[in-house]
Amino acid sequence: MIDKINELLAEIDNLKATKADEIEALRIKYLSKKGEISNLMNDFRNVAAEQKREVGMRLNELKEKAQDCINSLKESLENNQSTDQGIDLTRTAAPIELGTRHPLSLVKKEICDIFKRLGFSIAEGPEIEDDWHVFSSLNFADDHPARDMQDTFFIARSPEVVLRTHTSSVQTRVMEKQQPPIRIICPGRVYRNEAISYRAHCFFHQVEALYIDKNVSFADLKQALMFFAKEMFGTDTKIRLRPSYFPFTEPSAEMDISCNICGGKGCPFCKHTGWVEILGCGMVDPNVLDNCGIDSKVYTGYALGMGVERITNLKYRVKDLRMFSENDKRFLEQFKNAY
Ligand code: DAH
Repeated sequence: MIDKINELLAEIDNLKATKADEIEALRIKYLSKKGEISNLMNDFRNVAAEQKREVGMRLNELKEKAQDCINSLKESLENNQSTDQGIDLTRTAAPIELGTRHPLSLVKKEICDIFKRLGFSIAEGPEIEDDWHVFSSLNFADDHPARDMQDTFFIARSPEVVLRTHTSSVQTRVMEKQQPPIRIICPGRVYRNEAISYRAHCFFHQVEALYIDKNVSFADLKQALMFFAKEMFGTDTKIRLRPSYFPFTEPSAEMDISCNICGGKGCPFCKHTGWVEILGCGMVDPNVLDNCGIDSKVYTGYALGMGVERITNLKYRVKDLRMFSENDKRFLEQFKNAY
């Protein structure tokens, strides 16, 4: 009898069942009234008296073990059922609707990537700024019109706290902390107190570039501009520099590219001139370098700044600036395949 008990103990150790009816079959086989264990119990009375104690103990052990085993099989079946419920693993996965990158983000990234290839790295600064970083450090005269209420959103008057009107403020922040060589590109949002229309908004985006080192010249600036224009708008693009004025650069220029819509022949977009203006630039004014603790007798540099909306319009022909901030899905979805 001991042999039979040992045999069943070994069997029970290896019991496997994953479905309810399989478990029930095992219960019947071992634990029902006519099952293996009950049969042994019935035979117990025939066991010799001196063996009764040991056989009795082993028999109880077997019964308990069989009971435990069946219970734990039932338990794991229930657990599996509760997690599997309702999940059809053979079903095709529901497609996840991917969002799209915003056209301004696409173009901002493209601009930054081009300058990164020239060795520029990204720098960012706060949108809520003080007068020093937005105006004074950049050589704006006290009565410069850009400081006027018409243009600048003031948050506090004294000391003056403003929403930055251009990303040139990031130049100052970096120059104050770092000595040349400096080669940074600063993307960001800027604010101006303008009436909202199809061609103006109270917030828009700029990318600023700044390069300062020994012997940086206007020729370096021209080279970078040419590279940028050809990478952004195609190798046939021509550039043109017109003298201009900015407080923080001397000399200053504005750059036009040959109209990428008519190829320079003249069309309504370029007002039949064949050229469209895309950015401002120049050699950093020595006053700005000195204001920021950089020795203007040792170092020179160039800076340039452009509006992301303007470049996006040229690339994607968006006629109304307000489209960029209206979150109209029909507009945004058109950029699904852009990268
Ligand atoms: N900050 C100018 C603006 O908002 C753009 C600009 C012009 C930036 C010339 C520059 C620059 O760095 O050199 O209109």
